[in-house]
Order: sequence, then structure tokens, then C-alpha cells
Amino acid sequence: MKNNKKTILITGCNGFIGYHVANKLLDNNFRLIGIDNNNSYYDPNLKKERFNLLKKRKNFFFSKIDIKNKKKLFKIIKKFQPFLIINLAAQAGVRYSFENPQKYIDSNITGFVNLMEIMKTLKIKRLIYASSSSVYGDCKDFPFKENMKLSPLNFYGQTKLLNERISDVYRKNFKIDSIGLRLFTVYGPYGRPDMYIPKILDKIKKGNIIEVYNNGKNLRDFTYVGDVSDIIKNLVVNFNKVKKFNILNICNGKEINILKLLKMCEKKIGLRAKILLKPMQRGDMFKTHGNNSLIKKLFKAFKFTKFEEGLSRTIKKDYFKY
Ligand SMILES: NC(=O)c1ccc[n+]([C@@H]2O[C@H](COP(=O)([O-])OP(=O)(O)OC[C@H]3O[C@@H](n4cnc5c(N)ncnc54)[C@H](O)[C@@H]3O)[C@@H](O)[C@H]2O)c1
Repeated sequence: MKNNKKTILITGCNGFIGYHVANKLLDNNFRLIGIDNNNSYYDPNLKKERFNLLKKRKNFFFSKIDIKNKKKLFKIIKKFQPFLIINLAAQAGVRYSFENPQKYIDSNITGFVNLMEIMKTLKIKRLIYASSSSVYGDCKDFPFKENMKLSPLNFYGQTKLLNERISDVYRKNFKIDSIGLRLFTVYGPYGRPDMYIPKILDKIKKGNIIEVYNNGKNLRDFTYVGDVSDIIKNLVVNFNKVKKFNILNICNGKEINILKLLKMCEKKIGLRAKILLKPMQRGDMFKTHGNNSLIKKLFKAFKFTKFEEGLSRTIKKDYFKY
């Protein structure tokens, strides 16, 4: 059977980024097969909330599947014959990777290889997948550029680097084109509760203490989730033109100091944050700052959302929703 030119399979669709990407692709008249195992790494009710919104949409089909289950994965991919796969399902989180590395092996490595093997068998030739800025790890040359030597500092980053290497093998040997996205700290509405911005919003609301690591000196390149979904949609639409760029940084290209971020949140919410300064954490990066010139070159008209604007939208949706 021929691959269906309008059908895309997306894994991790009930996750934070997956939800936004799915909506964006549905807005652009693609037919989507969403897959998620709805795991409980964070509150599954949030995944349910996102899913309940997605399932109302035309052309969205869902199947609860774990990507480590190759048999079930094969069956659904064979049935729908997508022309492209977007892999966002993964065990995310840096700190948790020290506690439970097996989860990272299962989803990020076994699951990833399952997908690639199925693509090989079913002759599906296009893949977009999430890598991470964590692959840069200890790099000291800022801003991080796609062609730098990599040295991940934690298990999570190592699994993402392995994804990049594995996809190279399938490109060279089986002609499966893939684009790996090195995502830099994504934030936005329906955000992941284990990530920094949702966590501090919750703590400010409850009056709880906010631990600020590296005594507030850490810097992060925060990337708005709407920009990520726009870029992925652009990559899908222009896949054949851009597929030679196997790796792309997806980042705002601006570093924000964590204490400055807290001040902005206080101002927007109108409450004081209770801050406790702490030393650097194991496996953490002092700074993430990416170079996004490649993306800007590919999509010349693309404008990244200003951090203050993205933060306002996030607070409006996630903080003031109750
Ligand atoms: N959010 C960020 O800042 C960020 C930064 C860098 C990279 N990434 C990567 O982007 C992708 C999406 O991240 P996110 O922030 O949306 O995380 P998320 O945890 O919200 O989304 C991942 C989704 O995948 C599902 N999932 C996990 N393992 C699965 C499996 N084995 N089978 C099927 N479904 C599974 C989860 O239930 C979840 O809904 C991940 O690959 C993550 O590593 C995210």
C-alpha cells in the first residue's frame, strides 16, 4: 500500500509539546494518528485534559500504545500508512534519569529503535524526532551550534544523543530521512508540571519556597511551545527541501537569568516569591543558550515569540485558570 500523503503519526500526542504540535497539524488539515501510553511521570489528569481537547477535533485518531510494544506499534502504523512520523514520546526529565534509568532505556532507546525498524519494514521514509539541548551538556562555547562536539552530562542527554546516532545509521543504510530537533527548555500553556516555569507558578500561588539552584546564576534559553509547533509544521510541509539538515536547534536564542524570570513572574502575578538559594545540582547545565541561525535561514519570515509575551500567555492560561 502507498503511504498516505495527508496522514502523520505522532507519538506522545497527549504530552505537552505533542498536544500543541497535534493541534497545529490539525489546523493545517493533516490527518493525525496520535499515540501515547499516558504514563504517570506527572499527573495523568493533565494528559487527559489535553486529550479531551484533541479528541473533539476532526481527523484526529488516538490509540493508547507504548512505543516499546513493537507488535502493537507495527499494527497501527501498517493500518494507517503515514507518510511521516513525528516521535515526541520519550521519558523526559534530567533529574529523574539518575533515579530510574530503565525508563529512559525503554522509551528513548527501545521505543525509538522499534519505530525505526518498523519504518524500515514498511518503507516509511520521513521522521522528525525530539532530541534535546541536553546533548550539549558540558560544552563551554556559547551559543551552542549544531556542529559542536557534544558531551551530555546526564543519562537523559545520552539517550537523546544515541537517538541522533541511531537515526544516522538508518539514513545511511536504509534511506530513512530524519530531522532531529534539539529543543531548548520549552514552556507555554498546558506545560509540564515537572518543569521550571510551571513549578514556580504553582509555588508562588501556594506561597511555597522556591529553591533556586546555583545561587540564581543559571541561565536558560526558554523556547515558546507555539514556536516549536510552528517550526514542526514548517518542517513537515517543506520536508524534502530541508531534510538535509539532520539536526536543528530549536531555541529562542536568548538566555534568561532564573532570578530575572522570578521577578517577571512576581510582577505579572502580583505576588512575592519565597526564594531559597541553593548550590548547583548534579547533572545540571549552568547555561543553555542556542544558536538558532539555521532555523532562521530555513524559514526567513519566522519570528520567535518574545519571552515576556510567551510568559504572559502561559500565566494567563495556566495560572489564572482556577
Ligand atoms: N519540554 C522540553 O523543554 C523539552 C526539551 C528538550 C526535549 N524535549 C523532548 O520533547 C519530547 C516531548 O516532551 P514534552 O515536554 O512534551 O514531554 P511530555 O512528558 O509532556 O510528553 C511526552 C509524552 O509521551 C508519552 N510517552 C512517554 N513514553 C512513552 C512510551 N514509551 N510510549 C508511548 N508514549 C510515551 C507520555 O505519556 C507523554 O504524554 C520528548 O522527547 C522530550 O524528551 C522536551
